[in-house]
Amino acid sequence: MPEHDLSAQESAAIGIICAIPDEIAQFGDAFQKEKSTSFGGFDFAEGLLEGKRCILVEAGMGKVNAAVVATILAQNFNCRSLLFSGVAGGLDPALGVGDVVIGKHLIQHDYGIINNEVTESYHPGHLPIFMPSERFGYHLDGALHTRIEQALKGFVLPELSAEASGGTARTPTLQFGTILTGDQFVNCTATRNRLHNELGGQAVEMEGAAVAQVAERFGVDWLVVRSLSDLAGEESGIDFIKFLHETAAGAAIVLRRLITVL
Ligand code: ADE
Repeated sequence: MPEHDLSAQESAAIGIICAIPDEIAQFGDAFQKEKSTSFGGFDFAEGLLEGKRCILVEAGMGKVNAAVVATILAQNFNCRSLLFSGVAGGLDPALGVGDVVIGKHLIQHDYGIINNEVTESYHPGHLPIFMPSERFGYHLDGALHTRIEQALKGFVLPELSAEASGGTARTPTLQFGTILTGDQFVNCTATRNRLHNELGGQAVEMEGAAVAQVAERFGVDWLVVRSLSDLAGEESGIDFIKFLHETAAGAAIVLRRLITVL
């Protein structure tokens, strides 16, 4: 973009999407709301977060809700980037409840073909027969990745409770990783293992890659930050309820830090 366009670019708002009330509530008083507008039954709250013009919206769960809201943010509000903050299920055995994953690669794991009960994921929009797709998933913009690394220098997440840590209270980890998106809540160890082993996912959720798909269509940046509320096994429904509030805070804290470089 030419240099003279930078101020116009800066004045465009950043869209921040959450799926559920516990995720959006984490921004609390840090978000100074100025007004809100309704489209399609969604409430788009405009205001300031960390001094940046933002539009905060609760989309509900799932890829379609996320895509509708992301489209309205891009088309009706002319947002210059689309961010998602919320919780996910952990897939990587190295990660625990409360750890935070910043999406470096986003994949829609439920788009593809099923042969003999085996799912093969394809890039969204690609005819899922015969040929593997040339590209697969959405990759975080390289320049944004560098800015994020800079912004996170010296950053440490607040300590997690002993209960969420599964014993002794600990400081959650923060890493870039592969986030898988699909329209199912994963509550199954076999699926958790398959998603990690076959697709290399660190976390699974239900909206992120849909936001990335819309952002790419509109030519704007996207960023997905997820803290792990559960580990996507048979206990995940219980853990999700138990740890949702505490863990959702992690994603919002990281996103508030990163908004300064967007
Ligand atoms: N979001 C939080 N936990 C999840 C899980 N286990 N599966 C899908 N989305 C999630």
